[in-house]
Amino acid sequence: MKILAIESSCDETAAAVVEDGRTILSTVIASQVEEHRKFGGVVPEIASRRHCENIVWVTERALADAGCRLDQLDALAVTYAPGLIGALLVGVNYAKGLQMATGLPLIPVHHIRGHIAANYIAHPKLEPPFLCMVVSGGHSHIIEVKDYTDFHVIGRTRDDAAGEAYDKAGRVLGFSYPAGAEMDKAAALGNPSVYPLPRPKVEGHPYDFSFSGLKTAVINAAHNAQQKGQALSICDMAAAFQAAVCDMISGKLMQAAEEFGYRKIVLAGGVSANAGLRSRLTEECAGRGYTLYMPPLSLCGDNAAMIGAQAYYEYQAGVTAGLDLNAVASMPVDQGQF
Ligand code: KG4
Ligand code: ZN
Repeated sequence: MKILAIESSCDETAAAVVEDGRTILSTVIASQVEEHRKFGGVVPEIASRRHCENIVWVTERALADAGCRLDQLDALAVTYAPGLIGALLVGVNYAKGLQMATGLPLIPVHHIRGHIAANYIAHPKLEPPFLCMVVSGGHSHIIEVKDYTDFHVIGRTRDDAAGEAYDKAGRVLGFSYPAGAEMDKAAALGNPSVYPLPRPKVEGHPYDFSFSGLKTAVINAAHNAQQKGQALSICDMAAAFQAAVCDMISGKLMQAAEEFGYRKIVLAGGVSANAGLRSRLTEECAGRGYTLYMPPLSLCGDNAAMIGAQAYYEYQAGVTAGLDLNAVASMPVDQGQF
């Protein structure tokens, strides 16, 4: 089954053709990151405009790269939630236009479910059930993936997402948006013990995260050093921040795996590109005899191939949408609308 998938939830306009949920026939991503960088974050109105400008050529290129015409497809898929509403609407309306023109089934896909499904492409034998840690710019969730379309969230962030904390802490250390990858590189050169940082907990909720306090600790340390005219070691601070994030994520994830009885662990989302987190989880899982699955770096960030992968399984579960499909800015991963 060949699915043309479209993703436009944030600042990447992407299209891909994916076969049977596991094989990428083509994948095209037009990133707007350079343009948003000068504003220190994604400007929603600019994102929507760029999606409008890019969506046609990105989709045409994905079809051409796959050597596939519209009449050779079996279905269309689109990210409909969650994300920036104006950005999502571009993809949703374009996909509805394609549906009207072709008569193909249209499969609505939740963005976070897509991030998880990136692992189905990378690991052809991976099947639910498994325990998944989703860490992206907007989400930090520990999720029981009971089946391809059956999710149960057991922990979530109460404030900033992990990627958001990386971006905001990185900004005060002088890195441009999005700061995650640069922080990761700096952390590898630093000593994590120079600056003691907190590992905030959420009282009574062992699987919930709070990254905001950690971010604020970095911001305060940077401002204090500046006021006192002291030099701050960027690499040591980045290393301390990364060590705290890794401690928080791996501690809760391993505890959840034990309590809920999972030996198959999956990492997903933009922050799964983080070298420190990847090696820490590899070590922790190996020590317990758990199998760890991670997406390759090419599938960690936003892309449409992951949407095409999840769409295949949504379709098997009978999920399709009509021309009344609307975009939804926020929607829990375990409460699909369909
Ligand atoms: O999943 P994603 O591409 O977009 C959302 O759905 O939010 O995640 C983007 C986030 C950004 O916050 C970015 O800084 C972070 O992922 N990120 C990283 C790394 N690469 C990207 N964070 C830490 N280490 C990295 N290597
Ligand atoms: Zn994403």
